[in-house]
Amino acid sequence: MQATNDFVSHDPTMPQDAGQSEPTMSHDSKSVPGNNTPALVAMAKRYWLPVYKPRAVVLDHGKGSRVWDSEGRNYIDFGAGIAVNALGHQDPDLVDALTTQAHKLWHSSNVFYTEPPLRLAQELVRAAGFAERVFLCNSGAEANEAAIKLVRKWATSQGRPPERRVILTFHGSFHGRTLATVTATAQPKYQEGYEPLPGGFRYLAFNDVAALETAFAHGDVAAVMLEPVQGEGGVVPAAPGFLRRVRELCDQHDALLVLDEIQCGMGRTGTLFAHVQDEIKPDIVTLAKALGCGFPIGAMLAGDKVAQVMQYGAHGTTFGGNPMAAAVARVALAKLSSAAVLENVQRQARALRTGLAVINDDLQLFAEVRGRGLMIGAVLADTWKGRAGDVLDHAAAHGLLLLQAGPDVLRFLPPLNISDADVAEGLDRLHAALRDFVAA
Ligand SMILES: Cc1ncc(COP(=O)(O)O)c(C=O)c1O
Repeated sequence: MQATNDFVSHDPTMPQDAGQSEPTMSHDSKSVPGNNTPALVAMAKRYWLPVYKPRAVVLDHGKGSRVWDSEGRNYIDFGAGIAVNALGHQDPDLVDALTTQAHKLWHSSNVFYTEPPLRLAQELVRAAGFAERVFLCNSGAEANEAAIKLVRKWATSQGRPPERRVILTFHGSFHGRTLATVTATAQPKYQEGYEPLPGGFRYLAFNDVAALETAFAHGDVAAVMLEPVQGEGGVVPAAPGFLRRVRELCDQHDALLVLDEIQCGMGRTGTLFAHVQDEIKPDIVTLAKALGCGFPIGAMLAGDKVAQVMQYGAHGTTFGGNPMAAAVARVALAKLSSAAVLENVQRQARALRTGLAVINDDLQLFAEVRGRGLMIGAVLADTWKGRAGDVLDHAAAHGLLLLQAGPDVLRFLPPLNISDADVAEGLDRLHAALRDFVAA
């Protein structure tokens, strides 16, 4: 796709010639042969394992909720990576935390202590309410992998044989790309070709209480694992009361409740943890994405039932709890817990929904707009089903970074501190992009 937008406005914080065909703002631009979009895209095609299909835009730098490409075009960021840059780009407090730690110590191994991950663990435990202990890792898949292993170890400690350590997960879920987490992910497209898959998972329809009750009746369930708002599966929130029923059944059958808040946590839905709105207490919660606001870090939070189950040698990682990542995450956690950010989530969620309704009055594109807080999905009406990718092309051409959740859903995950002005401008660009899309 050729980005054709004329939103050429330079980041005022960057040098005057930023964005020209010989950019000077990129520290390594001089060492990159042919530093322009087609040449860089060609490098991706030549050297990357072709597992991704990015749009032909090379992003160079960002500030707040705006991002500039290597040719100087600016974009409003309605994706925040994929729910990662929750405080936008170049947040000064995050930059300060990272650079201060970078001048002290980058890495120490888990053979010695450093202060940032200890402080972070304490702060996560205090923020979470249900949690006693924390395992720090580097990504969402690793956090879920740790959660799956913890469930199994806990079931083992209860004297349950392997066939009674089943984890129930839900169609439409997404839990990661490692072998165990693709298996937990009840979507065949992520699993096909990777068989044999690990055993011990059973899949149910999301929000289907009767199916859940039947599944528990087998007497082999060790845990239920779910996203309070399914992200990749189409931005589908748990129905009111569903999590409470899951909790009750877990309690009745002595099973654990594992919540994957990797996408919907860290303030995205308007509370630091999404499950707080469901008024339940989980046993395990996994976090990643916005925990580091762009610096890789993941975490598994363990409640009192399971906090002591894994002992010395039971699990580990080289980079998890890296002091740089933890230093950033401490600041991210403090800022994303603040009333200012959480109130902004509600405010901008209302603005986005109102704007989407106005666009829909004009163009009749959406069958439904759903989600929670600043995790919003616009479901394409039947006429436009399967065309979300095309909409993203038009959006990029109009200076808007947008996401999809499958072929039928436009996904909105802007930074949680996005301003009124950027939401309004983003909606204007979306409206123009959708007009073009409909006319094309
Ligand atoms: C809900 C959820 N869980 C797990 C993951 C996997 O995280 P990661 O890509 O960091 O391994 C994702 C990533 O999109 C996610 O959205």
